[in-house]
Amino acid sequence: MPKISIVAALADDYAIGYKKKLPWNLPADMKHFKALTTGHTVLMGKRTFESLPNGPLPNRTNIVLTTMLSEGVAEGYFEADSLEDALELCSNADQVFVIGGAAVYKQCLDYVDSMYLTWVHGDFKADTYFPEINFSKWKEVSREDHPADEKNDYPYSFSVYERI
Ligand SMILES: NC(=O)c1ccc[n+]([C@@H]2O[C@H](COP(=O)([O-])OP(=O)(O)OC[C@H]3O[C@@H](n4cnc5c(N)ncnc54)[C@H](OP(=O)(O)O)[C@@H]3O)[C@@H](O)[C@H]2O)c1
Repeated sequence: MPKISIVAALADDYAIGYKKKLPWNLPADMKHFKALTTGHTVLMGKRTFESLPNGPLPNRTNIVLTTMLSEGVAEGYFEADSLEDALELCSNADQVFVIGGAAVYKQCLDYVDSMYLTWVHGDFKADTYFPEINFSKWKEVSREDHPADEKNDYPYSFSVYERI
């Protein structure tokens, strides 16, 4: 079985999305996300897939959860109509990253081994939130705090959690 991890960027109040997009523009987090996930398998919900500006993420195996499977073969990604089927598609992968959105994080939170969370320190308008995390079940194994800078409007922290 592959190692399965969540990757998410969330505000201090757990906000993750607004009007089908991210609530912020944080290039440093985009870079971090790319470095972490490139070469691996990414699992996402249909709404997150539809929010990607250029379609499937390059150099990664993209698996998209949807109850409405495409007719014929989907271009550049795989579809699954249940979490069970999605995990079956991942069975030969070394590392699977669950990349959202809220609906998929909620279903996977109890199954993942680790979480790569970017905490974005600011107040944001949001309509989508990460599910509640029971921190007594998780150990923060690393954390890097970064101030805002000319490219990134908000301070942010890269944290890694392992299930206890
Ligand atoms: N901050 C972050 O790190 C981050 C990361 C990702 C996304 N986001 C944001 O989160 C928002 C989207 O999240 P969301 O919760 O609305 O949507 P989502 O989780 O991306 O997608 C939900 C859709 O996925 C499909 N789905 C989910 N579970 C399924 C299952 N077990 N079996 C079959 N299909 C399943 C369904 O698609 P069908 O309707 O096609 O059946 C469902 O409507 C956006 O604002 C996005 O920008 C933020």
